[in-house]
This record gives sequence, C-alpha cells and structure tokens, in this order.
Amino acid sequence: MQIRIGLLGCGTVGAGVVSLVRRRADRVADMTGLRPIVKTILVRDTQKDRGVSFIDERLTTSPEDILADDDIQIVVETIGGIEPKTYILEALSRGKHVVTANKDLIALHGPEILQTAAAHGVSVLFEAAVGGAIPLVGPLKENLTANEVTDLKGIINGTTNFILSQMTTRHIDFAEALQMAQELGYAEADPSSDVDGLDAARKLVILASIAFHTEVHLSDVRVEGIRHITATDVRYADEAGYVIKLLAVGRDRDGELTLAVRPTLIPKNHPLAHVSDAYNALFVRGDAAGDLMFFGRGAVVCRQRARLSAISLRSCGI
Ligand code: HSE
Repeated sequence: MQIRIGLLGCGTVGAGVVSLVRRRADRVADMTGLRPIVKTILVRDTQKDRGVSFIDERLTTSPEDILADDDIQIVVETIGGIEPKTYILEALSRGKHVVTANKDLIALHGPEILQTAAAHGVSVLFEAAVGGAIPLVGPLKENLTANEVTDLKGIINGTTNFILSQMTTRHIDFAEALQMAQELGYAEADPSSDVDGLDAARKLVILASIAFHTEVHLSDVRVEGIRHITATDVRYADEAGYVIKLLAVGRDRDGELTLAVRPTLIPKNHPLAHVSDAYNALFVRGDAAGDLMFFGRGAVVCRQRARLSAISLRSCGI
C-alpha cells in the first residue's frame, strides 16, 4: 500500500527529502508495508533548478493542492520560519499527519500545534528540530519515559560550537572565526540568532518541555550569546584546564526549573569538552538510566552535506 506525502517547500532540505524518500521507499515498504511517495510539492517557482529532476512528483504553487487532497496522508514542512503555521494547523485539522524540523515554530507554538493534532487524532513529528539527525526527541519522549529526567546539558548550536572550536584551536578572535563560519556556509549572513544564543534557547525550550513534562516558554530561558568572548578568555580558560562552550542547560529540582543558554567553562575531562567543530551533543541525567550522552552531526553539518550532495547530483545531471 502507498502512503502519499505532500511536501511544503523544496529548498536544500526539501530536495533532500525527495531524494531520500526515493532511495529508501523499498526499505520502508519492506519494514512497514507502506511505500512512501512524494505526491505533490509546494514551491514558489515551479521552473527553478533544484538539483533534482522531478519524475512522478507534481510541483504546485497552490497550498490547496496538498491541503485539500484526501489522497495525501502526511504533510512534510520544510519552509522554515513561523509562516507555515497556518498550513500545519490546516493539515492537522484535515486529518493529515505532519512532519517538521521547524524549531522556531515548535518552540513558539508547540502547545497549540500538539493540541490541534490530538484533537484530530493525528501526529506531529519534529525529531530533526533539535540536533539534526541525532535522535533526541524520540528517546526523551519514549525510551526514557520511566525516568525522572533531572538534567539536560547540551551543545545544540553547531555554528557557535564551530566558532568557539576555531578560537580554541587556532587562537583567533571571534570576528575571524565568525567570518570562517560564514565562508564555510555554517553561519548565516545575519548570524545573530546563532551567536546571540536564540537558536539554542528555542531548541532548549523543545527539549525541556519534553524532558520535564511541562510547558516551557522562551521567556523562561536566560540567554547569553558568545559575541563578547575574546581570544584571551579562551586562552585563560585553556591554561586553567577548561574549554568554553555555549551550553544549553535545563535543570529540574522538585519541579523548579532552571533554564539557561550561556558560555560556560567545561573541564577538559568532561565528555562535552570533546565535542568540537559544528558537532552537537546532549548530556541527559535520568534517575533510572544515570548519565547518557547523545552525540552527532547537528543540523548545520547535515545542511552543508545536503548542499554538497545536491551540487554533486546536479553536476552528475541526476
Ligand atoms: N543554525 C543552526 C546551528 C542550524 O548552527 O546549529 C539549524 O538548527
């Protein structure tokens, strides 16, 4: 049996979804009995070169071609930003499951989106909203259900981790490291949401809501970025046996939550001290499981790899 997907947006991430669904459709069908196919893709411009040639997928500029199509059971949102909220709520209200990696939207409107999904008996999955391909949401929501999670400590912004790693290993200052991050495609032209800690704070809101079973708001998080960190700070930390990381911290002490994103001195022998470049990691403490650490490529590395593979697909004429 086929399961049809409507894709909202077809930039680097959306084009990656199209090729991954094609490549893995057989495997998913073998495992689940359901063969996923991308039926319709919402784009702004149907003529634009996206590095993949569309075979069976239909490109459209009308959201109704997806939202009103009863044949489509899953909507995958890859537009980003807050704007797709209307489409997501509409899709859920019409009985479609939604998959999104949109951390801004989930951090700001998660409760409304989840309530709408529950009211219509469908699911919203947002695993990739935090930590790229590292499974974090699933383990916190499902595998660790029997635990009382008391602590989250994470390096959940790849751009700032890359910048701080360069400052540590090359002894360069913030401005030079930021320029490198921009040249390599890690940092955006306007890097403020990364370097001022907002991106990590939004991800922390998502993780803390799940881990601590409560509604968490962005205003609950104390946020400090890394702009003011100097090469001298990094050198003094090094001499004292520490590295500086932008750490997202969530702590639950008998229902009292402390939530913060801030540059933090990490002892060099702590596992988080070894998470360098644009990698992400999340350290979790549960009363039954003890200490756990999840490590891997964050979204920023995945995005760069997706861009590179889109370029190589294009250059191979696929
Ligand atoms: N800008 C983010 C980061 C990538 O640097 O981690 C998307 O989550």
